[in-house]
Amino acid sequence: MKYQFPADFWWGSAASGPQTEGVIPGDGKGENVWDHWFKEAPELFFDQVGPAKVSQFYTRYPEYIQQMKATGHNSYRHSIQWSRLIPDGVGEVNQTAVDYYNKLIDEMLANGIEPFMNLYHFDMPWPLQEQGGWENYDVVTAFARYAEVCFELFGDRVKKWFTMNEPIVPVEAGYLGEFHYPQVVDMKRAALVGYHEALASAKAIAAYRKLGLSGEIGIILNLTPSYPRDAKNPADVKASQIADAFFNRSFLDPAILGTFPEELVTILKDLDMLPKTLNEADLAIIQDNTIDLLGINYYQPRRVKAKETPKGPQPFPTDYFDFYEWPERKMNPYRGWEIYEKGIYDSLINIKENYGNIRCFISENGMGVEGEGRFLEEGQIQDGYRIEFVKDHLKYVHQALSEGCNVLGYHMWTCMDNWSWLNAYKNRYGFISIDLANDGAATIKKSGEWFKQVATNNGFDD
Ligand code: FCB
Repeated sequence: MKYQFPADFWWGSAASGPQTEGVIPGDGKGENVWDHWFKEAPELFFDQVGPAKVSQFYTRYPEYIQQMKATGHNSYRHSIQWSRLIPDGVGEVNQTAVDYYNKLIDEMLANGIEPFMNLYHFDMPWPLQEQGGWENYDVVTAFARYAEVCFELFGDRVKKWFTMNEPIVPVEAGYLGEFHYPQVVDMKRAALVGYHEALASAKAIAAYRKLGLSGEIGIILNLTPSYPRDAKNPADVKASQIADAFFNRSFLDPAILGTFPEELVTILKDLDMLPKTLNEADLAIIQDNTIDLLGINYYQPRRVKAKETPKGPQPFPTDYFDFYEWPERKMNPYRGWEIYEKGIYDSLINIKENYGNIRCFISENGMGVEGEGRFLEEGQIQDGYRIEFVKDHLKYVHQALSEGCNVLGYHMWTCMDNWSWLNAYKNRYGFISIDLANDGAATIKKSGEWFKQVATNNGFDD
C-alpha cells in the first residue's frame, strides 16, 4: 500500500540546546540547572557524562545542518537556551549568544530548513533555580521577558515558536519522581510548578501577540494516552480518566481551551493543594492566550488499573491508580518504554475530537536503543528496527490524516544521537550517530538514508 503525505508536510527532527550545544570556553553562557547538578553529583549521570561534553552543535552546526539536508529535513526544532541568551536568567543579554542564534537561524534558512524554535526545554538558569525555579512566581515574569527578547531578536525570521517542551516533565520527574532536579516528591509543590508553567506559557504567548509578528506560536506536549486494564471495568476506566487529567489534560486544556480540567481542580481543592498564587487576573491571561499550533511528542502509552484498595483523598496521582506493565513490546528487550504505535493515532484523534482539531504535528517520536553506540566500530549502524518503528508510527499518522486530523508534519527525536539528561548517551535515538570517542564524528545510520527517501517522496510504499 502507498502511504502518501501532503506535498507541504513537515519532515525533520527535533533536539534542544542543552542536549547538543555543549559549553564552549568564551561562549558567555550562564550555568543552568543541569550544568550545576552535574558539577554537584556527576555520579548520578550515566557514565558520568555531563552536558558540556556533547556533540558541540554550538560550533559544528554548519556541518550538522548539512547532515540534516542529507537526511531530507525541510524543518528542524532547536531551543534557545535561556542561560545562554540571558546568563543569569533576568539581566543582560549575551551578545555572543545573539550572534550564534542569528547565524544558526540564517544557516538553516539558507539550506531550506525551516527553523522551529522552542524556548524552555528543562534548562532553568541556575540563579533562578536557586530561588525555587518554577515554584517561584517571579520566574514566570522572568520567563515572559526572556520570551519577549527572543521574539524581538529572531521573530523576523522564525515563524514557528514554542513556549516550552513537555512542561509535565519537570512536574512529574522533578516533583513526583526523582529524575530531574530538585528530586523531591511533593504533590503540593508539583501543582504549583505545573500551574506556573502553564501561566508562563500563556504570558509568553501574550508577549508574542503584542509584538504583532507574522508567525505561529504553540507548545510542545508529550501525550501519554491512558488505557484502562479492562475497558469494561468502570473502576479501571475511571482510573485511566484521572491519569489522563493529571498527565495530559493538565496542559492540553489550558493551552488549547484556556481552562484547567475540572476533575483535577476538584482533587487539588479537596487536598488543599491549589496553587497559592492562583488569581483571577492570571486565569484570564491563560483563558485569553491559547495556542495556534500544538506539537505532540509521542513515545509511549500509560496503562492504568484501579487502585486495589482505594483510600480517601490522597496526595499523589498514584494514590488514585496503579500502573501495570504490558510486557510484550519494549524499545529494548525486556525494558525501556513500551512500543505501541496506535497511541500516536489515538492522540491525534483526541485532538481532533476534543480540541477543535487544532493545527498540530508530531514534534517528537523515536526509539531509544541502549548501547547502540557499540556498533559504531562496525561502520554504518544498521538500524532496521528504527525504520520499522518509524514506519509503523507513520502509518498511523497517515490514517489519522485520512480521517481528517489536522496533522501537518512529523519530526523524529532526533537527528543526531544526543545527551539525554541523567541517561546521557545511554539510549541513542538519532538517525545520525555521533562518535564521542572520535571527535563527535557524525555518520548517517541506515534509518537516516531511509528517512531521506520518505521525506523526498512525501511517503513510502509498504
Ligand atoms: C523527551 C524529551 C527529549 C528527549 C526524549 C528522549 O521526553 O523531550 O528532550 O530526552 O524524551
